[in-house]
Amino acid sequence: MLRVGVMVSGGGTNLQAILDAVDSGRITNTEIRVVISNNPGAYALERAKNHGIEAVCISPKEYESREAFNKAFLAKVDEYQLDLIVLAGFLVKIPEEMTRRYEGRIINIHPSLIPSFCGVGYYGLKVHEAALERGVKVTGATVHFVDSGMDTGPIILQKAVEVREGDTPKILQQRVMEQAEWIILPQAIHMIANGQVKYNK
Ligand code: GAR
Repeated sequence: MLRVGVMVSGGGTNLQAILDAVDSGRITNTEIRVVISNNPGAYALERAKNHGIEAVCISPKEYESREAFNKAFLAKVDEYQLDLIVLAGFLVKIPEEMTRRYEGRIINIHPSLIPSFCGVGYYGLKVHEAALERGVKVTGATVHFVDSGMDTGPIILQKAVEVREGDTPKILQQRVMEQAEWIILPQAIHMIANGQVKYNK
């Protein structure tokens, strides 16, 4: 059984896609041990509780420095002895010490075809605003391993989604979620859990 922790900051629709995929058997060999959020108001925490999964909040605002938060965050994550950490809309930069300790065992979903519209400042709706601004005709989503950079780690899966005339950032965001994110994130977890992707156990 792959022991997975999911990190979230917001609504948690990707978390929901993972939970549904475990229930329906599209993800096998996997146990979602914990959901961790930096944001006490994240609806994702409710989704976890509704599903009987431990939901934990650890907010940088409760610590006097980023260093103190990073240390406590890493200690909290270590408690669960996770094989894989999934960043599902987690908007906190992962501390370097954590990317070192969990090298090859952290994956992230990003709502564009990396290397387009990624890196510092590109998250959530901003990614889709930038894609529309540039006038791309195709966008999509990427699941990748997390290294010490921002959206720079090895790519595991990508899926393209068409941009349509009249799209707003919100409409495009929803299409990218439905047609790409909610499919490839569960798929990547299933592949890792079943030895179809090389990763550091
Ligand atoms: C998702 O679109 C995810 O790809 C994005 O945040 C959203 C979270 O939605 N992540 C990033 O932009 C990371 N750079 P959700 O809470 O409903 O899953």
